[in-house]
Amino acid sequence: MRKQIAAANWKMNLNAEEASNLLDEIYSKSIELSSNQMVVLSIPYIYIGEAIKKYKAKNNYFIAAQNCATTTNGAYTGEISASMLHSLGVKYIIIGHSERREFHFETNQILIQKIDRCLENNITPIFCCGEKIEIRDKREQNEFVANQIIDCLFHLNQEQIKHIVIAYEPIWAIGTGKTASSQEAEDMHKNIRLTLAQKFGDNVADQISILYGGSVKSNNASEIFSENDVDGGLIGGASLNANEFSGIINALKK
Ligand code: 13P
Repeated sequence: MRKQIAAANWKMNLNAEEASNLLDEIYSKSIELSSNQMVVLSIPYIYIGEAIKKYKAKNNYFIAAQNCATTTNGAYTGEISASMLHSLGVKYIIIGHSERREFHFETNQILIQKIDRCLENNITPIFCCGEKIEIRDKREQNEFVANQIIDCLFHLNQEQIKHIVIAYEPIWAIGTGKTASSQEAEDMHKNIRLTLAQKFGDNVADQISILYGGSVKSNNASEIFSENDVDGGLIGGASLNANEFSGIINALKK
């Protein structure tokens, strides 16, 4: 069975004390994970070092970053590289979140470089894709998302693609309280898997975890996660509350 993943994306939230408290609270929930389940906490860079030490002994929990630089090192003031994150023990990085595409003008060309930096450092990119409402209104969402996958991931080889996690996040569902229906999520996840299969074959496409993101809460997670091609979620707002997030972890398929 594919890995089932509850991934938190804290975005730019919480001060140092709040972040430390939330990490402690989630830790202390002691949720039993099966061997195919995992939790990924994507937190602000500055808290990663401490968090990794805190979670060292916690099996199947991983501390992740929300971004990395396109380059390896050098005179790039303010940037953080995948190799720096690797040196702290980071195993996952969110790449291509719609907020970065929109507010930081990240193009597919930029995302390809970030994905490559991750893979060079044995880090799994959590590659985000998803359409705006205007595109869904025109019923062009399948083609649009397939093209994001083609443009950013089709340069990879059979081995590399197995180290990618995909997060489908329809932009109209992010932070709006409006989720895709479980059928809409399943239809898109199938479309993504089919797109991957056309390039990498059914067997490889079948192994890739595809997460859903967009207003997932503890009270709607089970329904969405129960769909065949939905392998968990990428969670924003609800990941900032330990009880809410624990409910979402508990909704993962066993
Ligand atoms: P919300 O869960 O707050 O809608 O955010 C989703 C998201 O953007 C996760 O990356």
